[in-house]
Amino acid sequence: MEKRVYIKTFGCQMNEHDSERMLALLEGCGYQETKRWEEADVILVNTCTVREKPEQKAYSIMGRFQQLKENNPAVIVGIAGCVAQQEGEQLLARIPNLDFVLGPGKIHRLPEILHAVAQGSRGVCAVDFENGDLVDLPIPHTRQLSAYVTIMQGCDNFCSYCIVPSVRGRERSRPSNEVLAEIDALIQSGAKEVVLLGQNVNAYAKNKPHELTFPQLLAKINEIPGLERIRFTTSHPRDLTEETIEAFGTVEHLCEHLHLPFQAGSDGVLARMNRGHTREEYLSKAKRLREKVPQISITADVMVGFPGETEADFDQTLELMRAVKFDGLYSFKYSPRKGTRAAQWRDDCPPEVKQRRLEVLQELQRGITLRKNKALEEAVKEILVEGQSRNSPRKMTGRTRCNRIVNFTGGPELAGELVNVKITEGLQNSIRGERCG
Ligand code: 5AD
Ligand code: SF4
Repeated sequence: MEKRVYIKTFGCQMNEHDSERMLALLEGCGYQETKRWEEADVILVNTCTVREKPEQKAYSIMGRFQQLKENNPAVIVGIAGCVAQQEGEQLLARIPNLDFVLGPGKIHRLPEILHAVAQGSRGVCAVDFENGDLVDLPIPHTRQLSAYVTIMQGCDNFCSYCIVPSVRGRERSRPSNEVLAEIDALIQSGAKEVVLLGQNVNAYAKNKPHELTFPQLLAKINEIPGLERIRFTTSHPRDLTEETIEAFGTVEHLCEHLHLPFQAGSDGVLARMNRGHTREEYLSKAKRLREKVPQISITADVMVGFPGETEADFDQTLELMRAVKFDGLYSFKYSPRKGTRAAQWRDDCPPEVKQRRLEVLQELQRGITLRKNKALEEAVKEILVEGQSRNSPRKMTGRTRCNRIVNFTGGPELAGELVNVKITEGLQNSIRGERCG
């Protein structure tokens, strides 16, 4: 009988992609995915350590799986991802009955490790980091409409709050010919959209003078026949060049959406965060983007309660939000991460102040989002149809080029198609439309 694997993923799109790769590897060894952990032979928790909350969630879910293992010792339980990378062997001591620990740089070893565990090895740990080239992994062979493609890994920016450089290593870019070949293969197997991934994609091949630059890579990808949409994430304002901004107006299939975290609105906080950009620099890049492509959607990440953040600093964050009018915002309370520079400073913003600032900020953004969604009413948008809407079987769901999710009336035969939809209603949390050709 086929063995079943259950994978729980926390964290960013890089992690989602790693989970897809692990699944592809295991499918190649005869495993089948299950969405029910109770029936799994192998349970894998792919963790994130960027903030305290997802890390805590990963530990609590691991606790649940340990109970399952007490009842059924044959189940293999492993922990992967950034917590695995950071904690390594210590996890084996901390979590009883844990079978293996696998860092993000060691995914290719998963089948071999599972085999060893099945043969009786306990407590296998593979997390050592080689800062060399990216490991060439098989392309997931699931038919996907939208496929992730890693173009670079790691980050050299060393923001003072951020654990990423120590868990994902220094910046390294994949050769462009490999990236192009992978995209070609993905299109052959049905993809219409690619999402280029990296912790800082704008820094693609920054130190490789003979390689394509990031905007040149976008232009090359644009020429691949059959590809309808190109997206990329995530970007650092410091590395967002004028050439990349230009690409939004000129590269036909590049979608008009940019995720450009700003983290804080005051220069003092930005300097302590070691962001390498000022408030003015961020604002001027956002302005350039909107001059170039007025309909571009800009989304961002922001934090509240960084050490030393005053009410006046926080007001500057709100001011920046009012100036840019983000199309979407991911907002977080700062939490110190072990091993980062900021973790040496006192986490001096009381939890209730962090909470209040978060709520104020989210309320402001809700108003902006609602106004933006309303402003779309009557417009006709091109939608790439993803599938049936979760809430209503008679509706389909898809995304605009600006990455907005739209639900509209239509049948399942539209899945995978590009259709025009007239927006009929822009609400707080959803957008409705009607097909119009
Ligand atoms: N505390 C809170 N939020 C953080 N982020 C990164 N590190 C921390 C931290 N220590 C947020 C940033 C980043 C997003 C992925 O998570 O906003 O862009
Ligand atoms: Fe989380 Fe960062 Fe690791 Fe992504 S790279 S999973 S955000 S810690």
